Amino acid sequence: MGARPAVTYTIGIFCIILLVTSIALLVTNVFLSVVQNYVKKEIQLRNDTVTFETWKDPPPPIYMQFYFFNVTNPEEVLNGGKPFLEEKGPYTYREYKLRENVTFLDDDEMVSALTSKTYVFVPELSKGDPATDLIRTVNVPVVTVMNMAKYSSSQILLAEALFVVKGVGLFTTRTVHELLWGYKDPVLSAIHFFKRDIDDYFGLYYKMNGTDDGEYVFLTGQENYENFTRIVEWRGNNSLDWWTTDMCNMINGTDGTSFHPLVTKNDTLQFFSSDLCRSLYATFEKELGVKGIPVFRFVLPSEVFANVTVNPENAGFCVPAGNCLGSGVLNVSTCKQGAPIIISSPHFYQADPKFIDAIEGMHPNKANHETFLDINPLTGLLVRAAKRVQVNVYIEKIDGFMQTANVQTLVFPVMYLNESVLIDNTSAAKLNTMLLVSEVITAIPFMIMGLGVLLGLIFIILVCTNRNVAIEASEAERAPLLKPS
Ligand SMILES: *[C@@H]1O[C@H](CO)[C@@H](O)[C@H](O)[C@H]1NC(C)=O
Ligand SMILES: *[C@@H]1O[C@H](CO)[C@@H](O)[C@H](O)[C@H]1NC(C)=O
Ligand SMILES: *[C@@H]1O[C@H](CO)[C@@H](O)[C@H](O)[C@H]1NC(C)=O
Ligand SMILES: *[C@@H]1O[C@H](CO)[C@@H](O)[C@H](O)[C@H]1NC(C)=O
Ligand SMILES: *[C@@H]1O[C@H](CO)[C@@H](O)[C@H](O)[C@H]1NC(C)=O
Ligand SMILES: *[C@@H]1O[C@H](CO)[C@@H](O)[C@H](O)[C@H]1NC(C)=O
Ligand SMILES: *[C@@H]1O[C@H](CO)[C@@H](O)[C@H](O)[C@H]1NC(C)=O
Ligand SMILES: *[C@@H]1O[C@H](CO)[C@@H](O)[C@H](O)[C@H]1NC(C)=O
Repeated sequence: MGARPAVTYTIGIFCIILLVTSIALLVTNVFLSVVQNYVKKEIQLRNDTVTFETWKDPPPPIYMQFYFFNVTNPEEVLNGGKPFLEEKGPYTYREYKLRENVTFLDDDEMVSALTSKTYVFVPELSKGDPATDLIRTVNVPVVTVMNMAKYSSSQILLAEALFVVKGVGLFTTRTVHELLWGYKDPVLSAIHFFKRDIDDYFGLYYKMNGTDDGEYVFLTGQENYENFTRIVEWRGNNSLDWWTTDMCNMINGTDGTSFHPLVTKNDTLQFFSSDLCRSLYATFEKELGVKGIPVFRFVLPSEVFANVTVNPENAGFCVPAGNCLGSGVLNVSTCKQGAPIIISSPHFYQADPKFIDAIEGMHPNKANHETFLDINPLTGLLVRAAKRVQVNVYIEKIDGFMQTANVQTLVFPVMYLNESVLIDNTSAAKLNTMLLVSEVITAIPFMIMGLGVLLGLIFIILVCTNRNVAIEASEAERAPLLKPS
């Protein structure tokens, strides 16, 4: 006896202190706050920080893949038949995104920059050669001119005469490169001669290579982490109903490489802004792991595409007011200089079956045609994403034009794109290390609790053995007395 009880009680006291401390730390969330505050401080646009450099020149490769629909039965379509389309591609381009003229404003609360995208063809990831592959598709300039002329009989006559002279019809056959990056169009050239503000070139991505689309002003997140990279101004216009040249689908609120840190499952990610009264948004679907990084997957919920009967809020997409096309298609004509362009998911995924049934060759599926964003919740970093959009042309019979005399009313698919990004291995390793450190830090209260429990066990063992020793000792003292002599 002697030192033993003192050691036992010391251990007991330590055990209680550790358990109380750990519970206090857990209740007050001290270490979690330490991690969260660290992240909030790091994920800000500040000069000479890693976050700033990553934002200026994002390291993971972005790929833009185009798939075109080749019309196999143009004569039948002109005579009122169902179009038969063959998907061609992908034609894959590496997208280099660079920010220039970066300037901090308003005490570093905002930063302005020009963002330019450069597209470089990647043959290894492509099927076919855009320079030589021919695609027969809707002649967008012709349909656009028809739509512009349709309200005046004299303009109809002029336009019809122009089409005949130039020998153009509802369909045209061009190389993929021409359709994307632009070609001198005979009809537009003739109009350009009289109206100089009309471009004589047409291309779905005409003038989009290497050119910036105007100055953006972003919030740096220094004032509030939730506003990190939120766009507040574009081309000097801070009204929120602007649109961009990029198919009207600029990401609203953020600039697409990162969202604010500490993303929760209840967050709604605003994106695809347009002038259509409200923007599209993505909501939480499930948790996943990408290269070992935990992510939340956000997708466009089907209500986003639903028709007005199912989701009355979508009335804003019916332009002009009351003119609703149905689920899954958006009229973006106003942001395409009056061209009758309709946006949808590829193969009319999540759209009204009437659009799918009207075209032979549509095979919508979730895996390939859904737009999704995989975001690491702690940092808000975009780990993997695919933005998938189909460009269609609205075709209908327009009185006075023999080209459309017999055609059905159709939302006619021209091409779709998949703009995707996947975190590179170096960035993934860095992020994983950071996440590990943050997990260790947040686990400190549990470690303290574990130590407390361990000491508790030792305390119990010591108390029991002490008691046994004491009993044995007393038995030993009594033994001689009990022993018959
Ligand atoms: C960042 O700081 C450096 C000097 O440390 C300065 O030369 C540079 O102009 C700053 N950049 C911006 C965008 O303010
Ligand atoms: C875009 O511009 C870059 C640099 O000027 C050039 O290397 C690239 O080939 C261009 N891409 C296309 C599709 O023309
Ligand atoms: C598309 O169809 C046209 C006409 O049938 C054909 O000449 C062309 O080779 C097709 N394009 C591709 C990429 O297969
Ligand atoms: C920044 O975030 C705060 C809090 O979420 C919000 O009240 C404020 O309006 C935001 N600022 C801008 C310019 O969006
Ligand atoms: C853009 O995002 C902001 C903030 O989330 C939202 O208030 C605004 O309505 C959005 N703009 C459009 C055009 O949807
Ligand atoms: C709206 O969508 C629902 C479900 O897809 C469908 O049953 C209904 O007929 C549609 N209404 C209109 C007006 O298209
Ligand atoms: C698309 O919107 C434009 C402009 O608001 C309108 O003139 C056109 O009729 C609409 N197209 C369809 C098919 O509803
Ligand atoms: C992009 O999406 C298409 C289908 O829409 C798919 O075939 C392709 O593999 C995707 N590319 C990447 C890099 O995810």
